Amino acid sequence: MKKIAVFASGSGSNFQAIADAVVSGKLQAELKLLVCDRPGAQVINRAQKLGIDQFVFLSKNYSNKEEFEREILKQLREREIDFLILAGYMRLIGPTLLSEYPERIINIHPSLLPAFPGKDAIGQALEAGASRSGVTIHFVDEGMDTGPVIAQQTIEIGYNETRESLQEKIHSLEHQLYPVTLQKLLTSI
Ligand code: GRF
Repeated sequence: MKKIAVFASGSGSNFQAIADAVVSGKLQAELKLLVCDRPGAQVINRAQKLGIDQFVFLSKNYSNKEEFEREILKQLREREIDFLILAGYMRLIGPTLLSEYPERIINIHPSLLPAFPGKDAIGQALEAGASRSGVTIHFVDEGMDTGPVIAQQTIEIGYNETRESLQEKIHSLEHQLYPVTLQKLLTSI
């Protein structure tokens, strides 16, 4: 079974969906580590409850990205991690991790890329008056939400859609699509 590390910065509902899928056997992988750049983030409590190791860091305690990514790499190597799964990790991945994990870093983004990359994709879709948006799962490269697409699914945006209602639709799609897509990918490589 492939060993995975999830990277997250916030509430961690996708981390939870992945962990639940591992426990139920729908995702045949070993979830070995949470990497989190925000001490106090809710995702840390989720990992603690599940007994999953955490590496929590503060970027300001390092002189640059290379330095904290080297530390992350050490943690990944110790656990022989095969794939890095980004789930609301609010940082660009740098060359230190990209070169060690080519085509082994995956991200989920709450829009139909290449539409609405970057921060607040849900707000961007509403602001643009889009009639549809969705979820994209893609390989990570050096750009912001730019790597090759692995899976995409569309959501209709109703005329009376609010940020809350769209966010809820997107999240429930993500929680279903991410584990299923990872299962296909990790068991085919
Ligand atoms: C998700 O919408 C994901 O697509 C984006 O960040 C959000 C993370 O949510 N990259 P959560 O922390 O998993 O609840």
